[in-house]
Formats: sequence, C-alpha cells, structure tokens
Amino acid sequence: MKAIILAAGNGKRMKTNFPKVLHTVSGKPMLHYVIDACQNANITDITVVVGKDGEKIKAATPYDVNFVEQAEQLGTGHAVLCAKDNIDPTDKVVILYGDTPLITSDFLQNLLAFQEKNEAHGVIVATKIPDPTGYGRITTNANGDFSAIIEHKDLASHQQNINDINTGILLATGSELLYGLIRLENHNYQNEYYLTDVPKILKNSGYSVLVHNVADYTQFLGVNSQKQLEEAATALRQRIINRHFENGVQIIDSSSVYIDSTVEIAAGVTLHPGVILQGETKIGENSTIGAYSQLANSVIGKTTTIRNSVLESAIVGDHCQIGPFTYLRPGTEIGDYCRIGDFVEVKNSVIGNHTTAAHLAYIGDAEVGDRVNFGCGAITVNYNGVVKNKTIVEDDAFIGSNVNLIAPVVVHSGGFVAAGSTITDEVPQDAMAIARQRQTNKEGLAKKFKKPKKATKKSKK
Ligand code: UD1
Ligand code: CA
Repeated sequence: MKAIILAAGNGKRMKTNFPKVLHTVSGKPMLHYVIDACQNANITDITVVVGKDGEKIKAATPYDVNFVEQAEQLGTGHAVLCAKDNIDPTDKVVILYGDTPLITSDFLQNLLAFQEKNEAHGVIVATKIPDPTGYGRITTNANGDFSAIIEHKDLASHQQNINDINTGILLATGSELLYGLIRLENHNYQNEYYLTDVPKILKNSGYSVLVHNVADYTQFLGVNSQKQLEEAATALRQRIINRHFENGVQIIDSSSVYIDSTVEIAAGVTLHPGVILQGETKIGENSTIGAYSQLANSVIGKTTTIRNSVLESAIVGDHCQIGPFTYLRPGTEIGDYCRIGDFVEVKNSVIGNHTTAAHLAYIGDAEVGDRVNFGCGAITVNYNGVVKNKTIVEDDAFIGSNVNLIAPVVVHSGGFVAAGSTITDEVPQDAMAIARQRQTNKEGLAKKFKKPKKATKKSKK
C-alpha cells in the first residue's frame, strides 16, 4: 500500500502565517503524526503533497517521504492528481489528510484488511461525530448503499443534520483512483476539484465502493481552526495519558499533566500535579517527578526524585535528589546518588557520583568528580565577559560556602577550598586553599561608627 498525504491547503482558518500541518499537538507537527501512523503500519511509500509553503514543510519534516508540489490549491482531488506520477494502476493507495493527527496505524491496517476481504475498488471511511459542522456527509440510497459524499457547504437544508461524516480517508486501487481523478469537475460551491467526488464517480461507473464505519470518531478529528487544534490536542493528550497508565505510570492528577507524544516513561514512575514533560524526555523506573516540574529533552535514571524544577536537555543518573527549585540547563550530566538542591543552576557541566550541591550554587562549564561537596553560595566564575572558561573539580574535593572558582582553574582530588575564598590558581591534591583577607578586630571601633543613640523619653507617671 502507498500513501498520499495532502498538506497543500492554505490553512486560512488557522489565522497564522505558517503552514497548517506544522501546527503542533503534544509537541509534534500534525503532519508527522500522519506519517508516523503510515510508517508504523508498514507503509513505506509515502507522498506528501505540499503547496506554496512547501519548503517550510520539507525543512521541518526529516522523514523518508516524497514531496510533490500543488502550485495552486484547486481542491483535494486536484492535490491527489498532482501526485499521479507516483500512482501506478496496480497500486493500492490510501489518501490521508495532513490535518487529522489522531489517525492510528491500527486503523490503517484494519482498513487495508477490510478492502482486501471485500475486494473493493474504493473504500471510504465514515464515523458519527457529535458536531458534524464543516465535514462532508455521506448519503446512502434506499438499499442503504453508498450514494455520495456531500461537502458541508453544498448540503441541501434537509441534509444539514446527517451526522455520518466523511473522515476524508479514501483507499482505492490505483487504476480506479486515476479513472475517478481525471473525471472530476469543480461545479460546486467552492469551485474546487473535490477528492470526495471520486467515490461517486466510481460507483456510477459500476465499480464497487464500500463504506468502512469506525466507531471512535476522535481518530478523525480534522483541524481547520485553533479551536479544533485544541480539541485534537485534548483527545491526543488523553490517549497519551492512557498509554502511560497502561504501562504502570502513576499520574496523580492527569488533568494537570502534559506529556508530549515522544516522551518515554518507565513503570513505577509517579507524576505529581502540574508536571510538563516535553520532547525526547525519558524517565527511568520508580522515579518521582514532583509537582510543577518542567522537563524538556531530559533523561532521568531510576529511583530519582525531581521536585519543582526545570530541566532542559539535561541527563540525571539513578538515586538522585533534585530540587526543589533546581535549574538544569543544556549539557548538564549528573551521575548517580547526587543531591542538587534549591536554587542551584547547572549548565554544560558533567558531575560525577555522590556529589552534592545542596543550595544556592552555580556550576557552569565544569567537570566535577565523585563525592564533591559544593557549599552554599559556591560558584564557578566561568565567563570573563569575552570567553567561557572551564573549571575542573576532582574527586573528593570540598568547596566551601561562598567560594568563587575563577575559571580556568583546577581543584585537584581531595583539595579543600575554605569558605569565602576566591580561587584563581590551581589547588594541589589534598591541599587546603584559603584565599581571603585575614580578619582583624579593632576593639571598640564599632561604637564610634554608630550614630549616638537618642535618649529614650521616660514615660510620664
Ligand atoms: C475535507 C473533506 C471532507 C471531510 C474533511 C475531514 C474534501 C473536499 N472534503 O474537508 O469531506 O469531511 O476533510 O477532515 O476533501 N488540501 C490540499 N490541496 C487543496 C486543498 C486541500 O492539499 O487544494 C489539503 C489540506 O492541506 C488538508 C486536506 O487537504 O490537509 C483537507 O483539506 P481541507 O480544506 O481541510 O478540507 P475540509 O474542508 O476539512
Ligand atoms: Ca480539514
């Protein structure tokens, strides 16, 4: 089976200035869902019909598919005709729309099985939908056989409340599809060449056209407007959440949790309210993601707890405690058994195992070993206003509170940096570095610096 995905429409009803099929649901462009469904159903020959925004769509679609251009948007039938060089008379072709992102590979496989079993020349897919506004409707003759698809704008008044809708999907044998396409006319309200007229043409020429009814209409929600985009996103979100429930993920309040379709979560993970998981995020077994954490493209190991934190392209090992209020920025790699606490920011740094930065620290462009302690307020001074420099802190080093490590600098293994030090030079192995002014106490001087206290009035008796 080959697939042709229509994605050339102007998407005017979205009221945005970029292609409709690139609008995202759960973190992925609508078109990509349709391609994924095809590929998961083992359909490898896929043609995407694009319009004037084709270059943008191609650039955003790193898939092994053919692109064909429809220079002028003369209708869905005309769009398929633009791909006719990719249709062989002996093919079976399924036509899908790039604006129906909820379509599944299971459905595509069932559709093919239905066509094979019935040896139909054409199969259209119907469903019942609560609000059929905007969809084409399927009419039947007195025997209940398929008669025609009538577009919403072409409905007669007595047909308005038919809620058997055309999902837009058509499976046809190649030669019959070509037969129908070249006979299309545009005598309709929109003066377009409707793909939806092909089944009627085939039927009237004696070919067999069957209707495949599918109960779950959510798979076929078409997105023409921002409101429909949100409806599709809500349906998809529920589908994603159900998949994680089935995989043994505990989601405390699924109505407040947002998980992109690309996220992987192992069994035994708990997600607290308000969690947002985006992109290529992966979470290992029995980890806990606490309330209001936002993780993008981050990989979390097993039995790690993350509370109220923001992670972007970060990697965290097993048995770690992150947060509350930790910010892990791109290039962060944290080993196992680490504790990175409140108001600690880590950027582009690799941190070993059993290392702690419990509060108020900044670790940027650093290589930190195992069993290191970063005290409260300790920072790497990685930027001199011109270039970023590297800090190396070897195993078992101790960085006291409020230390500035002025990069480039190395603290060798077992080194101890005294609190309040500003370190500009290498700290040798097992050495104690104290880089601060010695304290002097001047007896009585404090009193001279203070304003003389006003005499307190005695209260009247
Ligand atoms: C279409 C169907 C309608 C069905 C509905 C399901 C037609 C005429 N109507 O209506 O029966 O109920 O989908 O969602 O097919 N496109 C092109 N080139 C064009 C026009 C459209 O490639 O010249 C693409 C669009 O990018 C879109 C798809 O075809 O991905 C459907 O077009 P759209 O205008 O959204 O059709 P609907 O009005 O939704
Ligand atoms: Ca549509």
